[in-house]
Amino acid sequence: MTPSPTIEARIDDLLAQMTLDEKIGQMWQISGKIDGAEETIRRGGVGSFLNVEGDVAHELQRIAVEESRLGIPLIYGRDVIHGFRTIFPIPLGQAASFNPDIAREGARVAAREAAAAGLHWTFTPMVDIARDPRWGRIAEGGGEDPYLTGRIGAAMVEGFQGDDLSHPERIAACVKHFVGYGATEGGRDYNTTYIPETLLRDIYLPPFKACIDAGVATLMSAFNDLNGVPASGNARTLREILRDEWGFDGMVVSDWNSVLEMIPHGFAADAKDAAALGVLAGVDMEMVGDGYVKHIAALLDEGLLSLEMIDDAVRNILRLKMRLGLFERPYNDLDPSAMLLAPDHLSAAQRAAEESCVLLKNEGTLPLSPTISKVAVVGPLADAPQDQLGCWVFDGHAEDSHTPLAALRAALGAERVIYAPGLPHARSYDEGSPAGGIAAAIDATNQADVVIAFVGEDALLSGEAHCRAFLDIPGAQQRLLDALKATGKPVIAVVMAGRSLALGPVLSAVNALLFAWHPGTMGGPAIADLLLGKASPSGRLPVTFPRAVGQVPLYYNQKPGARPAPADAPIVPTGTPLDPSGFVTCYLDVDHRPQFPFGFGLTYSSFEYSNLRLSTQELAMGESITAIVTLTNTGERTATEVVQLYVRDLVGSLTRPVRELKGFQRVELAAGEQTEVRFTLHTDDLAFHNAALQLVTEPGDFHLWIAPDAGSGLRAEFTVVKK
Ligand code: NOJ
Repeated sequence: MTPSPTIEARIDDLLAQMTLDEKIGQMWQISGKIDGAEETIRRGGVGSFLNVEGDVAHELQRIAVEESRLGIPLIYGRDVIHGFRTIFPIPLGQAASFNPDIAREGARVAAREAAAAGLHWTFTPMVDIARDPRWGRIAEGGGEDPYLTGRIGAAMVEGFQGDDLSHPERIAACVKHFVGYGATEGGRDYNTTYIPETLLRDIYLPPFKACIDAGVATLMSAFNDLNGVPASGNARTLREILRDEWGFDGMVVSDWNSVLEMIPHGFAADAKDAAALGVLAGVDMEMVGDGYVKHIAALLDEGLLSLEMIDDAVRNILRLKMRLGLFERPYNDLDPSAMLLAPDHLSAAQRAAEESCVLLKNEGTLPLSPTISKVAVVGPLADAPQDQLGCWVFDGHAEDSHTPLAALRAALGAERVIYAPGLPHARSYDEGSPAGGIAAAIDATNQADVVIAFVGEDALLSGEAHCRAFLDIPGAQQRLLDALKATGKPVIAVVMAGRSLALGPVLSAVNALLFAWHPGTMGGPAIADLLLGKASPSGRLPVTFPRAVGQVPLYYNQKPGARPAPADAPIVPTGTPLDPSGFVTCYLDVDHRPQFPFGFGLTYSSFEYSNLRLSTQELAMGESITAIVTLTNTGERTATEVVQLYVRDLVGSLTRPVRELKGFQRVELAAGEQTEVRFTLHTDDLAFHNAALQLVTEPGDFHLWIAPDAGSGLRAEFTVVKK
């Protein structure tokens, strides 16, 4: 955001009037209306609350504005992660749309609804790169790729904030968790991370930079220990990279109690030490923990902190409040009843759900003919209004959900739908209930032409502190699918989940599989339209799908290694482990390749890529190359292809990934239609961080693919030459 001289002058003026206690108060964020909140506000002892809204928020704000000495307004934050009342697909699902417009619109809708509830600030987007689906928070981000995650995160920032942060229908965004949180060892939340700085800079930092370039107003420091230094006490990342290199002038908030959690980390001796480390690192506001309010004054007295540091932090907080226009408009007078679940919000959520679904298998079973006479709808997630919303939905209501069962009944007529859930919930082993359990699901299937099984993870299996050691569909759901298969009827699985899963046994039991993530309030109608061919699947995987949990971490932009396994051959040596064919990077007991590569997704049509050509074979440093491919819809239906651009730098001063995503375009073509798809790439887009941490593009040979996914595509070669 551009600095405003007027705002800076107003901050100076206000700072000059503030007592030390009032300054320290601004640096504290309290959760909920705690006992004595009113008095704390009156004496200027708090700057922000999270998790208060509506009338309570209005009254506390009135006390701040009318009864505190300087009348500095409070700022209210909340986790509005994928919608406020109208819930959109989980962020990982939104990333599967490969459509930043979907993420931007979802954030715009969420901002309007949240603003109407009196909120000013959301703790979104999460842009933590996640290479391990065991980590429950993979659901909250854009997946494994820094380019895609950056595009989706930046679009969310634009959607929340718009062009003018002070607009009544906009709220401040908060990019999180800075930094490296997604690399948590073993996929266990809050665990240690070790990330060499070259990797940090090439993979983990770029999505944050993309959000900062998009003007994000705030940033949250993470829980994790990064290379031995907890992220909320990390001056290297928070001061040197964020402020000095990137010039961020927004506000930094800690994660929940993450300043005081430097004590269990074994980095701070006590709360006073932790407070000093937080301020020194550049955390402006402490979320929940009371280390700052209790200890900053003493730390100043002892000369362990300087007043200048406190003024800098307060300056960042006041700048945010001024940018939001809180001094002029401390209360929001939007009418919530006109905003929440507005018809255009619901239609945006339906479109997002539709574009996020990924078709992973189809033996011609889908789309269903609208004239089909009887459909069995089974599975614990067919009518699970809370679970389809996914994790982090504080303000979403299950009763607003349009479930797949209701949508299929509406589309086909109730008499053509036979419903038997089979299992009471997704983790259940209770095969005998309710309503007859698996036996009833088999009966229903025997009476129908086709069965649609809604299976997967319930919402509580992903999100913060909700990690898994297995990547299967839990409970007795696999037994349910196997029993359905045994009926001989065509089986369609719709899988809802908050992460990538190891789908091998599911795939063996079904004729078609649509992966729907947790699709949100309008998931039902979106899925029904896709199943019935009123809409065509266009989502693509934002994460690699492994065959087995033991392959994790498995991600497309890996390094080649010394003995890469042949890309197109399954390597499962049949002889002894000494069989020479086994001396490559693979496992003895599972195909080394993923079940589905990053970027994969089918449509109801088919596409052919041909005639890949480059504008030049020799690309001079500082210039751009254009790659063009002919794309033809060779099938019989209109469909959208997500055309992806990848490169590989063949030899580097540090080893380079086997592929890196550099662009994507959604292209809709009618049956038989052909078009040319064009990408332009500058030599700066080929840069990486060398051993001296310089961002460089090195001369040499490159491969370039235009591809339907990270595992295939047409390839061309070019050379980057010095000018
Ligand atoms: C902890 C989570 O890590 C963070 O993402 C969230 O915004 C805060 N709690 C506030 O609820």
